[in-house]
Amino acid sequence: MTYRNEAALDFLATRRSHPPKMLREPAPDRAEILRLLTLAARTPDHGKLEPWRFVVLERAALDRMAPILRDRVLASGQDGAAADKAASAFASPVIVAVVSAPVASDKVPQWEQFLSAGAVCLGLVNAALAAGWGAAWLTGPAVLDQAFGREHLGLSDNERIVGLVHLGSRGETPPERPRPDVAAKTTWLE
Ligand SMILES: Cc1cc2nc3c(=O)[nH]c(=O)nc-3n(C[C@H](O)[C@H](O)[C@H](O)COP(=O)(O)O)c2cc1C
Repeated sequence: MTYRNEAALDFLATRRSHPPKMLREPAPDRAEILRLLTLAARTPDHGKLEPWRFVVLERAALDRMAPILRDRVLASGQDGAAADKAASAFASPVIVAVVSAPVASDKVPQWEQFLSAGAVCLGLVNAALAAGWGAAWLTGPAVLDQAFGREHLGLSDNERIVGLVHLGSRGETPPERPRPDVAAKTTWLE
């Protein structure tokens, strides 16, 4: 009996994020997004605390928030080009905000719960790529400006966005990027 899953290994060996500018309409529908979120939620979670949740930004919400974000970037003293770039990120077909929602726990420190939320981001990107969609895990101004999340995504004070996962249909194939020299980054302790 072999437990090797060649298809999964091939997928992991070749998977690549699709930057937002390479994403196209149509977006996955709600049923498909729920399937992808269900796969993403199948993630290691110390203490089974589920210290994360999802806020899905659909077309109307993205169109509403892009000018708000642009104005906030300008108000923070950055120039028009930076504000346009920030707002243009909301041109993606749909964006899932993965929200770290830490749970009070004597056993599981907050940084571990944060890691679990991060793992959910990668799980969502990989589930979307495996399902044939384009996907990328980004942050940027809408994440760094935590008040934006509280005022426009309904986040509470102890929550923060750990990733904006952009999803859409695939356009052109993204070029491969240099990959780490893992042998050079690995220490063997005997
Ligand atoms: C926490 C986090 C935040 C990121 N934020 C951005 C970002 O704002 N803009 C960006 O171009 N890439 C960002 N990246 C990098 C992309 O997710 C991704 O690594 C890159 O596009 C290459 O993807 P691939 O190795 O999955 O092919 C971020 C990655 C992580 C883990």
